[in-house]
Amino acid sequence: MKDVKKIELHLHHEGAAPPAFIRGLAAEKGVDLSRIFREDGTYAYRDFNHFLSVYEAATSVLTGPEEFARLTRAVLEESAEHGVVYSESFLSPDFCGGGDVEAWKDYLAAIRQTAEEAERDLGITLRGIVTCIRHFGPERARAPAICATETAGDWIVGFGMGGDEMVGHQADYTWAFDCAREAGLKITTHAGEWGGAASVREAVEDLNPARIGHGVQAIDDPALCDVLAERGIVLEVCPGSNVFLGVYPSLAAHPIQKLRKRGVKVTVSTDDPPFFHTNMTREYEGLERAFGWGEEDFEEITQTALEAAFCDDATRDTIRERLKP
Ligand code: HPA
Ligand code: ZN
Repeated sequence: MKDVKKIELHLHHEGAAPPAFIRGLAAEKGVDLSRIFREDGTYAYRDFNHFLSVYEAATSVLTGPEEFARLTRAVLEESAEHGVVYSESFLSPDFCGGGDVEAWKDYLAAIRQTAEEAERDLGITLRGIVTCIRHFGPERARAPAICATETAGDWIVGFGMGGDEMVGHQADYTWAFDCAREAGLKITTHAGEWGGAASVREAVEDLNPARIGHGVQAIDDPALCDVLAERGIVLEVCPGSNVFLGVYPSLAAHPIQKLRKRGVKVTVSTDDPPFFHTNMTREYEGLERAFGWGEEDFEEITQTALEAAFCDDATRDTIRERLKP
């Protein structure tokens, strides 16, 4: 499974940081982060909200463009190791310069340069999706949206929202999303990981996204599944993340296969791999075990992801060639 060529569309950049990398930075800076690690060196948290706070603590030691460049290299090496040839990661200006446009441009330049080096060395292409963080509130979402519009182009290709889905409503963030859309950015938002099918419906009706992060709880509303299928809205499904966080008790109980059977377009991603003890190889192995997925199923998933990628068509053609055996 490791060698199967893959596309990943839902990856939080800081959430992909190996724990040893964060521990090393904390030690260099004399910051005590022992509370966020278990004895075995993995990240320690109790539930989703605690995960978000551990995530922010881990991210707090990542400061400056140079450190984000090092992070980018580590993330791309790990992804390439698992057969990923194209990936889109969520970048948060809130964590890269505190929402300041000039600082953000410096972070982005460093990330992009490292990604271009990795593309040459490892054969993996990265594109960025700027994200605002829902639980920081609608006012704070404006700065990332402005950062996104100021850097929109062939590398920053999308705008999205992560964070705590149970805070506020998608419609509270329309200013940020409209701003990004006007700059030509494609839209995705986290919905239906915690907030149920109603949360997915809200995202669809209020933000008209091309893709939805997770979206899996749509399975509880058959009519909504039909809307997703008819409109070709693609779900960025992260099965391992959902099982690890207890959204579903097991992979066998995960709705990815049912969604697919109803005609909903699904793709597969890891979300925050070291936090959820996963990687793309494990995701594929799990799907093979739970649902008997084989070569044709993974091929279909990859084609869906290729078509749903936010990159331009020239990049899509390059990736299509790279996927050939
Ligand atoms: N879900 C929502 N928000 C996030 C996540 C996630 O998995 N990781 C970082 N921010
Ligand atoms: Zn996510």
